[in-house]
Amino acid sequence: MTTWTPASMPDLTSTSAVVTGASSGIGLPTALELARHGAHVVVAARDPGRGAEAVRRILSEVPGGQVELGLLDLADLASVRRFAAGVTRLDLLVNNAGVGLIPRRETKDGFEMQFGTNHLGHFALTGLLLPLLLARPGARVVTVTSDAHAAGRLDFDDLGLERGYGRMSAYARSKLANLLFALELQRRADRAGVDVKSVATHPGTTATNIVKVGPLQPLVRLLLKPAAAGAVPSLYAATSPDVRGGEYFGPRAKRLSPSQAARSEELAARLWEVSAELTGVRFEEFAEGRARGSTQP
Ligand SMILES: NC(=O)c1ccc[n+]([C@@H]2O[C@H](COP(=O)([O-])OP(=O)(O)OC[C@H]3O[C@@H](n4cnc5c(N)ncnc54)[C@H](OP(=O)(O)O)[C@@H]3O)[C@@H](O)[C@H]2O)c1
Repeated sequence: MTTWTPASMPDLTSTSAVVTGASSGIGLPTALELARHGAHVVVAARDPGRGAEAVRRILSEVPGGQVELGLLDLADLASVRRFAAGVTRLDLLVNNAGVGLIPRRETKDGFEMQFGTNHLGHFALTGLLLPLLLARPGARVVTVTSDAHAAGRLDFDDLGLERGYGRMSAYARSKLANLLFALELQRRADRAGVDVKSVATHPGTTATNIVKVGPLQPLVRLLLKPAAAGAVPSLYAATSPDVRGGEYFGPRAKRLSPSQAARSEELAARLWEVSAELTGVRFEEFAEGRARGSTQP
């Protein structure tokens, strides 16, 4: 079998996309390839300077491309709400942004930073954009997790990790939450009878800012794959006609299996309820979809 490359992407001329964390790393080539294939792309970035530079770099490779900057800080629910209110059309949401392996910090709303940014910020963003996604049949949500999710543990009695914080365990927990969310989103879309695909991806170890290996960083980065290769699973999940909702793709667009915990429907349902409570975002349109479906013969 030949390896899938972005050259196989379909024409995306009528597609509107949002890519979070498109200011650097894997998000930048993800946004670039979507724009190269004709999509209208919102580069969602927390820093105006880095975001504007990313837009400039994309336009230098795709002159005349439809690319704009949207300011989004996933560690601040008010910013997530402001950003979502400015989006008017959406076929594709790529929940790519992430922080990892950082000392314990909190988001604006007081959540542990890795869980708050990587999971809760994207949970809220997806829920706030759901009406737009439901208006576009075949819409997709791609959520970037990691194979590190397999080491993740969720203790609902200590979501703040105040009893003990580890940079790696906090990252693994946030990535488990990403994968539980992606799979539960598909279950809820299916139950509501709406035409939305939710797909998860793992980029594989990629030379980006999130990989922190101390003084040897520049050397180690040379050995890792470039960000463009890390974007392949997301681009495949976002555009391939062969993708089904609820699937999970890794490097070279190969199907992967989620860990046992990530497949737990009970854990996913509990995480969903807790996330809705913490963010105040409730995905009410799914209930409306169910109600509409029940009136049909
Ligand atoms: N690289 C790997 O080996 C690897 C492996 C597995 C999974 N992943 C996943 O891949 C995704 C992309 O990471 P990356 O490797 O490309 O790392 P990266 O280069 O550090 O990129 C992370 C992106 O997220 C943005 N971001 C961070 N906090 C944010 C916030 N509060 N609000 C909005 N945006 C925020 C960053 O913005 P700034 O430019 O402002 O910092 C940056 O654009 C992450 O979800 C990560 O967990 C990466």
